[in-house]
Amino acid sequence: MDLSTTYLGLPLKNPLMPGASPLVDKLDVVRRLEDAGAAAIVMHSLFEEQITSQQLAEFAHTEFSADSSSEASSYFPRMEDYALGPDRYLEQISRIKEAVDIPVIGSLNGISIGGWTDHARLIQQAGADALELNVYYVATNPNESGTAVEKRTLDILEAVKASVSIPIAVKLSSYFSSPGQFAKQLDACGAAGVIMFNRFYQPEINIEELEAVSHLDLSNQTELRQRLRWIAIIHGHIKADIALSGGAHSFEDIVKGIMVGANVVQVVSCLLQHGPEHLASMLADFTRWMEDHEYASVDQMRGSMSLGHCPDPSVYERANYLRVLQLWKT
Ligand SMILES: Cc1cc2nc3c(=O)[nH]c(=O)nc-3n(C[C@H](O)[C@H](O)[C@H](O)COP(=O)(O)O)c2cc1C
Repeated sequence: MDLSTTYLGLPLKNPLMPGASPLVDKLDVVRRLEDAGAAAIVMHSLFEEQITSQQLAEFAHTEFSADSSSEASSYFPRMEDYALGPDRYLEQISRIKEAVDIPVIGSLNGISIGGWTDHARLIQQAGADALELNVYYVATNPNESGTAVEKRTLDILEAVKASVSIPIAVKLSSYFSSPGQFAKQLDACGAAGVIMFNRFYQPEINIEELEAVSHLDLSNQTELRQRLRWIAIIHGHIKADIALSGGAHSFEDIVKGIMVGANVVQVVSCLLQHGPEHLASMLADFTRWMEDHEYASVDQMRGSMSLGHCPDPSVYERANYLRVLQLWKT
């Protein structure tokens, strides 16, 4: 049984890894993730606001409404412990590189072209094998066009690419009007991978205090379907590798992700809920399922349910809309 895959040019022993999260802040948790079988470690982001010394106002007000069982809370980070400053971030990459044998992927998060992108070089120097770029941008200006929003990400990718030689993956928002075409543009600009998708945290309204309040809810499996659909559509159209991020909680979700065309599946919420060892059980169940279904390798499975290969492509297209609505019986 060959579980190996490649992602961003890195040979990986299997397609499962923790996504960007504060799980990397504790070295013992990182070791537990490696022991559980993680194929790589993805750092949480270093934020433009940290680098430019602005306040992380949004993050400081973020409230966790995650599972707060005593077991979960031991590895669920407190907000004040989260988001290492630039120097500690780089140190942490070096410490993790020394502590584990699997690839380590850095992450930069920002929305403007500027000096902060130079940190890509420092992340590379600290030992990162690759870099995720997360342009977490909310287009609050109604006069800004979609093309301008796309150009922002492309420009940042180009600026970061110019300062490093390690491969770069871009974490995509699901709000682009033509995600496939945008993924192709990123591909043409030299992105080695796309991560689908970023999760946008939506503010809640407190009707008594007349306040918009930030909440961080962990994902659930219903979020997976949007990722499956878009990866299925994009698979085969780009050279860049594809990472699924969002809503993967079980071994079946890894199977689905690979079948639609992902090179790797990233998980965060389920690890924050159940601990790093959940990754080992997902991987064991995934391996058993592959054996039972006589798959020789992950490569053999990849893309079998993509738009180009699945028996009924209309499920990914508009035709399915009518059918789904007709399923509703009063
Ligand atoms: C507590 C927490 C911190 C996160 N920090 C980052 C981050 O620093 N950078 C980033 O790109 N994504 C970050 N994410 C998003 C995750 O990497 C992932 O894309 C998202 O949680 C969806 O995956 P999931 O459904 O497996 O949780 C964070 C998520 C959580 C829950």
